[in-house]
Amino acid sequence: MTTTYLVTGGAGFIGSNFIQYLLETKEDIRVINVDALTYAGNLENLGQVESDPRYRFVKANICDASAIEQVMSGFQIDYLVNFAAESHVNRSIAEPITFVDSNVVGTATLLQTAKAAWQDEAGNYREGVCFLQVSTDEVYGTLSPQRPAELFSETTPLSPHSPYAATKASADLLVRAFGDTYRFPYNITRCSNNYGPYQLPEKLIPLMISHCLEGRQLPVYGDGRQIRDWLYVRDHCIAIDCVLEQGRRGEIYNIGGRNERTNLSVVKQIIRAFRDRLGFAVSDDLIEHVQDRPGHDVRYGIDPRKIELELGWRPRISFDEGLEATIDWYIAHPLWLEHAESRLEQGPRGMKEASHSA
Ligand SMILES: NC(=O)c1ccc[n+]([C@@H]2O[C@H](COP(=O)([O-])OP(=O)(O)OC[C@H]3O[C@@H](n4cnc5c(N)ncnc54)[C@H](O)[C@@H]3O)[C@@H](O)[C@H]2O)c1
Repeated sequence: MTTTYLVTGGAGFIGSNFIQYLLETKEDIRVINVDALTYAGNLENLGQVESDPRYRFVKANICDASAIEQVMSGFQIDYLVNFAAESHVNRSIAEPITFVDSNVVGTATLLQTAKAAWQDEAGNYREGVCFLQVSTDEVYGTLSPQRPAELFSETTPLSPHSPYAATKASADLLVRAFGDTYRFPYNITRCSNNYGPYQLPEKLIPLMISHCLEGRQLPVYGDGRQIRDWLYVRDHCIAIDCVLEQGRRGEIYNIGGRNERTNLSVVKQIIRAFRDRLGFAVSDDLIEHVQDRPGHDVRYGIDPRKIELELGWRPRISFDEGLEATIDWYIAHPLWLEHAESRLEQGPRGMKEASHSA
């Protein structure tokens, strides 16, 4: 039996990696990609799959109930995986309402539409369907670097600090409320910081890579001691697949790489790779400490034991391997990077130089 995936936000960084992963690893599937193509959505990311007969693109906003209804009724959707969101913390500080629209109203619209499509008159859901909300560790707030053993578990209270994280937490609560109120079949995954191919250079790792390539200064927030738990994007895609295939419905799963690093150490590792492995004339002197952003969380750290023990998921790619592969990908795709940079320069408020999100 063919399994049909509705992937929202599939033209973005993680969504496009997920679609490629699905089409590479599964045979009897169909993938419908619904994306509004905001500044962050780029169909170039899907060039390799656009002529695959199992793949369809529909340009639509997830807030547009009638467009989503058409997709839900036109295709027998089994799994709805919601990646669509505004995702850049700095932008959320500059324009929070855009984030409320896409991340909260958009998720509510998808929930409502999926419920209507999946429920019969007796209130029963079609066998096997699932709504998977792709969420983030940022909903938990921040941890202290002084207590390294403390980690975010699935029961850690939500305590978001940025408008971005607050809208993601709101969406999580709506998804859970649909589960509790209507027995709606869902999972929520909360992942740590991703990196890998197709990430816009407004986020830490690709921004530093693009600046190293051009020999430009490397802007780092404050003292650079903020700690993030980094995961290669392919490992995130595999984790989502595991949750869809084997997860207990109505459960939240944290996803993380047990790979906490300070932003400064990540930047220094990128410099070392460019200098020692690739022979570029770059050094730590390029690092420029810039004013920290307001409310910047100090440390995120995921406890991934639940997904490891219940579903047997573990990251397959080490940070050293993943970072090397990511740098090599950006070097091999100069046109993609050029287009991404020019879109960021033309995009809302020209946020590129406002520094990175991490
Ligand atoms: N990047 C990370 O490190 C990370 C970590 C954990 C969770 N997440 C979550 O994963 C998801 C994807 O993140 P990403 O980094 O790929 O983001 P991204 O910004 O690269 O992509 C977002 C995509 O969603 C689309 N989109 C935005 N608003 C939309 C709307 N209203 N209707 C339809 N499409 C819309 C954009 O066009 C874009 O293609 C987000 O929900 C984010 O919160 C990201």
